[in-house]
Amino acid sequence: MELYIDTANVQEIKEALSWGCITGATTNPKIMSNEKGGYSFRDKILEIVDLVQKPVSVEVTEEDFHGMVDEAKIYASWHENIVIKIPMGIEGLKAVSRLEKFEGVRTNVTAIMATNQAILAALSGASYASVFYGRVSDMGYDPVGVIKETSALFKELNIGTKLIVGSIRTILDVNKALLAGADIVTVPFPILKKMTQNPKTEETVREFNSIWKEMKEKGLIRLEENIPARKLTFSMADKV
Ligand code: E4P
Repeated sequence: MELYIDTANVQEIKEALSWGCITGATTNPKIMSNEKGGYSFRDKILEIVDLVQKPVSVEVTEEDFHGMVDEAKIYASWHENIVIKIPMGIEGLKAVSRLEKFEGVRTNVTAIMATNQAILAALSGASYASVFYGRVSDMGYDPVGVIKETSALFKELNIGTKLIVGSIRTILDVNKALLAGADIVTVPFPILKKMTQNPKTEETVREFNSIWKEMKEKGLIRLEENIPARKLTFSMADKV
């Protein structure tokens, strides 16, 4: 189980990475358009790659086989952690097959709405297949069924393609996608933030801390604050 962040916003990425639970990022042309204009695409992607230090998906915008392959090779040459998002379709599958089998480029087949599309993506050799949870729901279909079927088939057929679920609109979508068998869910920052919050958690922490404060104020507890802390044999500070 992994969580990626679905954004190209550097501040959001920095903040989410500091929580220690994000292991990749996904972008697409629409996500790139949310950033203030006039920036260099390459510099922005490399800034993200440098922060994330794990897979970062970058999408091609060409629509034919040769165009996709050429565009993918350019982006992939920027950094080894760049995974190329290729839209589902015949031209896309051809491009995935070429890139994965002959060019050493990892791909993420994107905009998948149905199990049969995920199967094709996997069989063409894609490293990742991205099912779009919210957009499947928009059509009136059940994304959980698509994820369950895809995950079961990937396991049954011993397919190495990782199943990413994107197009996440609510925190419940994240739980449902993971329970249905997603390997990775890619989540927009506002939803990641909501995942950290629960009114009962906040109430509980407030209750505990105010009791503690009261005990200190009334002198009901000695904290030995002047005794130097024992040096830990392992500290997270040594790791970063
Ligand atoms: C996933 O990789 C996509 O970038 C994204 O989740 C698409 O979501 P949308 O339906 O909000 O555009």
